[in-house]
Order: sequence, then C-alpha cells, then structure tokens
Amino acid sequence: MSLDNSLKRFGIMCGSSPAMERLAQQVERVAATDATVLLVGESGTGKELIAKAIHQMSARAQETFIAVNCGAIPAHLIEAALFGHEKGSFTGAVKQHIGYFEHASRGTLFLDEITEMPVDMQVKLLRVLECGTFMRVGGDEEVKVDVRLIAATNRDLESAVKQGNLREDLMYRLAVFPVRVPPLRERGSDIELLANHFLDVLNEKENCDKKFSPASLEVIRSYSWPGNVRELKNVVQRAFILATDTLEVEEYISDLSNRKPTLHEGYLNFFVGTPLAEAQREIILATLKHYSGNKRLTAEALGISLKTLYNRLKEY
Ligand SMILES: Nc1ncnc2c1ncn2[C@@H]1O[C@H](COP(=O)(O)OP(=O)(O)O)[C@@H](O)[C@H]1O
Ligand SMILES: [Mg+2]
Repeated sequence: MSLDNSLKRFGIMCGSSPAMERLAQQVERVAATDATVLLVGESGTGKELIAKAIHQMSARAQETFIAVNCGAIPAHLIEAALFGHEKGSFTGAVKQHIGYFEHASRGTLFLDEITEMPVDMQVKLLRVLECGTFMRVGGDEEVKVDVRLIAATNRDLESAVKQGNLREDLMYRLAVFPVRVPPLRERGSDIELLANHFLDVLNEKENCDKKFSPASLEVIRSYSWPGNVRELKNVVQRAFILATDTLEVEEYISDLSNRKPTLHEGYLNFFVGTPLAEAQREIILATLKHYSGNKRLTAEALGISLKTLYNRLKEY
C-alpha cells in the first residue's frame, strides 16, 4: 500500500520516496491495531501528522484525537493535566477537572516529546498502559479508560535511557511498534514534491500562480533541511509573501553552508564552492555505493589505485 492510496487519501501526508513508502506501509499496518506506537524522528519530520494519520486510519477515527506536548507542561502540573484532579485536591482546585486521558477516551492520545516527561510521571504512565486505569489527583477511585497511545520523541532512545530521561521499562512498553520517521534529507525527490505542494496550497488560497525560480529549486534540492518539513514549509511561506511572481528562497534559508551535495538517480549535485575534500569524499562514497561496495570496480571507475581507495576510505 503506497502513500498515494493510504495516507494521501486523507489529504495529510505528501511523499513518494522509498523511505516514505516504507513508512506508509508501517503506518497502515499499525493503524489497524490498537498497539501503542512510538514515533522516533527529528523535529519537524511530521510526527504529529503521522500520529493523526494513524488515528484517522484506525477504528477510532470518529472519536477524539488529542495531542499533548509533554515538554510544554510544567512538571508539577503534568499529572493533573493528564489524569485530571478532584475538587479540593490542591489550592485552586475549585472543581473537578477531567484530564487528557479521560478526554481522549475511546480515541487516541498523542504524547509528544515523551522524554521531557518527569520520570515519576513515566512510572504512572506505564501503569496506565499496563492496567488501563489511573486515579485523578486527590482521588481514591480508579478510573478506567480505553485510550490508544501514540508517543513521540526526537531523541535517540538508547541515549535518552542512558541519561535517565526515559525509563527503560516505559521505553519497552511504548516501543511495541517503533516507527522511525526519516529526516527530509533522506527523502530524495520528496523535497521538491513537498515544496511544490506547499506552494500549490498557498497559490490556491491566495488565488495566484506564483512559481519557484530555477535557482530556488536548485537550493531546495540541495539544502540539507536540518529543520525538516517544518523548515521547508516556513521557507516557502516566507518567500511566497514577498514574491510577486517568482519565489526566491535563498535568503530565507538560515545556513547555506548546510548545502550538501545530493545524490539523485545516479547524479551527484554539487554547489559551486563546495570544498574539494568534501566533493572527493562524496564522489568516492557514491561510486562505492553504486558498485555495491565492490572496491576494485570503484577504484577502476575513479581512475585511482586500490591502495589510494583504501587509504581514503580509512580516512572517512
Ligand atoms: N509529509 C508531509 N506532508 C505535508 N505536510 C507535512 C508533512 N510532514 C510534515 N508536514 C508539515 O510540517 C510541519 C511539521 O510537522 P509536525 O508533524 O509538527 O512535525 P514534528 O511533530 O515531527 O515536529 C507541520 O506543519 C506539518 O503539517
Ligand atoms: Mg511535534
């Protein structure tokens, strides 16, 4: 099942690169279940969008979807925010309050930046996942909920566990179905596709027909997009506002030194001014990849000795 007839059907995710096709397959498979999902990927890669897609493709689609950014709630408020509180449970608790878990009942709860959740809260979260019950703050009655949980993090799981930001037991419980969301720079021609998608949406909305300049398209293709889809969307929006007919994106890209050579269908694209050492490295690695790791063929194609190739590879 490809993006075209799954995620895209919901009008929310664009992409046709192999990386996104794989993701779409995983999403579709997991959406049909009630399993807890852990989305791992850099900031701006579309984790929240994917969580929504999973919800919309699931049997819970007609129920509530709630997204909570764990990093945005002060540590002392998070328990009440998630589980609610009883009247009089603390100063200012003038009436009973229902938390996100109860609000998302029968639906899906998306917990973003899960490693920002205080560790003692992680224990309580694990308990809900195991038993499906919790207590409101200041309450003594078990509340039972049926919530599908999707969690996300932009951190490497192992190091988050090592550094004490994520409990190992919670990680294993969340990672029943881990889904890696690829950074934009690994999505090849999707970058251009997304840029055009964002431009189309703006053209439609503003009822105009603006276009990217050829130079802009070149920059869009070759920039490494450290801020991923979010950065691309922002850049397109900003360039759109100032353009009369033609979008010039260059000045909105924060760090042009991030422009990396790109490999696309057997062609390497370099920016004028790419350091020679970097160009050499990219050519060697791309050629080695082209010959499926065969060093003899690679050295022959590059016109260097096998020994030189070995030396270079050792350096890299
Ligand atoms: N594949 C995609 N197609 C269209 N829009 C996308 C896609 N991925 C991300 N976006 C958009 O990019 C922005 C960032 O996505 P978001 O889901 O908030 O990322 P994350 O949660 O990983 O930081 C949002 O505006 C989202 O709508
Ligand atoms: Mg997010």
